[in-house]
Amino acid sequence: MAKLELRGLSKSFGANPVCRGIDLDVEAGQMVCLIGASGSGKSTLLRCLNLLEPIDDGVIRLDGQDIAEPGLDPLPVRRRIGIVFQSYNLFPHMTAVRNVMLAPHRVKGLSFDALQSPVTALFDRFGLADRMLHYPDQLSGGQQQRVAIIRALAMEPEIMLFDEITSALDPELVGEVLDVLRALRQEGMTMILATHEMGFARELADKVCFLDMGKILEEGPPDQVLGNPSHERTRAFLARVL
Ligand SMILES: Nc1ncnc2c1ncn2[C@@H]1O[C@H](COP(=O)(O)OP(=O)(O)OP(=O)(O)O)[C@@H](O)[C@H]1O
Ligand SMILES: [Mg+2]
Repeated sequence: MAKLELRGLSKSFGANPVCRGIDLDVEAGQMVCLIGASGSGKSTLLRCLNLLEPIDDGVIRLDGQDIAEPGLDPLPVRRRIGIVFQSYNLFPHMTAVRNVMLAPHRVKGLSFDALQSPVTALFDRFGLADRMLHYPDQLSGGQQQRVAIIRALAMEPEIMLFDEITSALDPELVGEVLDVLRALRQEGMTMILATHEMGFARELADKVCFLDMGKILEEGPPDQVLGNPSHERTRAFLARVL
């Protein structure tokens, strides 16, 4: 049984079908990269997995249990599946460490005192120990994005979803955020990324999925999908972005 199994996942906005019957297996500890043209449905798929969007049809199984059944409480699932967006959305009036502690404090009922040690360890691990008391506008974009990742990790999720988390960053700041993903992969975190970083996908993904008009047109190891794609549309996309 895969950690996460999607079967026939479908989602429309009005008359616009955006996910059109997506099947996908993600094994524990795998890094899966979603690639595809703008509008192909990558963000929508990630938002559906985090139950931020209700799906119209299909099944999402986490450890074999259907999490997308209508009527189920989405909150316990969102604790198990973290998500980080392109825009990091830190609260500007709170220090980095307060931003990170907020959700575990409110949702898990842990005191700020109890959170001090595990949260400090997270800042340490990602090279931000000296930035904990800074406010977001005192941090670079790369540092803010790393704080946003730490904030998601502080909930101790089993799966992390990342939606183009380096797209808004200056090129010289992209590397430090990708280093965080590299470290998470080494630790065995299960991850799904929508990304335009083809070099990174090639280096680290266990599986690359090419989305085309709401369907996974092609999936496989990066060498195959990125190096020797079997579909003309995948080739055309790669020719544009590589
Ligand atoms: N909340 C919404 N309401 C209506 N339409 C939406 C909504 N969110 C997304 N869409 C539409 O769904 C389609 C897929 O969008 P989505 O953001 O998932 O694509 P994407 O692959 O992430 O693109 P990009 O690479 O530009 O981020 C687009 O046509 C978009 O306009
Ligand atoms: Mg998107």
